[in-house]
Amino acid sequence: LASLEVDLSKVELGSTVTVKWRGKPVFIRRRTPAEIAREAAVDVASLRDPQADAERASNPEWLVAVGVCTHLGCVPIANAGDYNGWFCPCHGSHYDASGRIRKGPAPENLEIPAYKFLEDDKMIIG
Ligand code: FES
Repeated sequence: LASLEVDLSKVELGSTVTVKWRGKPVFIRRRTPAEIAREAAVDVASLRDPQADAERASNPEWLVAVGVCTHLGCVPIANAGDYNGWFCPCHGSHYDASGRIRKGPAPENLEIPAYKFLEDDKMIIG
């Protein structure tokens, strides 16, 4: 299947679920107001792969990212690391709650797949 429909109704605020899409893990994080505010306040010019949070999350409550570290492809751990996003244990890359690389060897932010909302609590990836 090229696309994947995901029911978001049971995803708790502040938590991350992982789904499988085209053989890859995809993280879906329901962000708290504090997380949204923190990511929006980051100085984009200071980032290794400069992207504003608004470019990465059309609906700020939901951050959707391919769960493959851009260094050498390990699967990062959710709600971990120095920036409260993801931590890749393979070589120590830290991503923020926007999936942006903040520290460690990964060269780029976590990839954002194509997705859209069908309803408030239903999305389609791909
Ligand atoms: Fe993630 Fe190397 S694969 S830090």
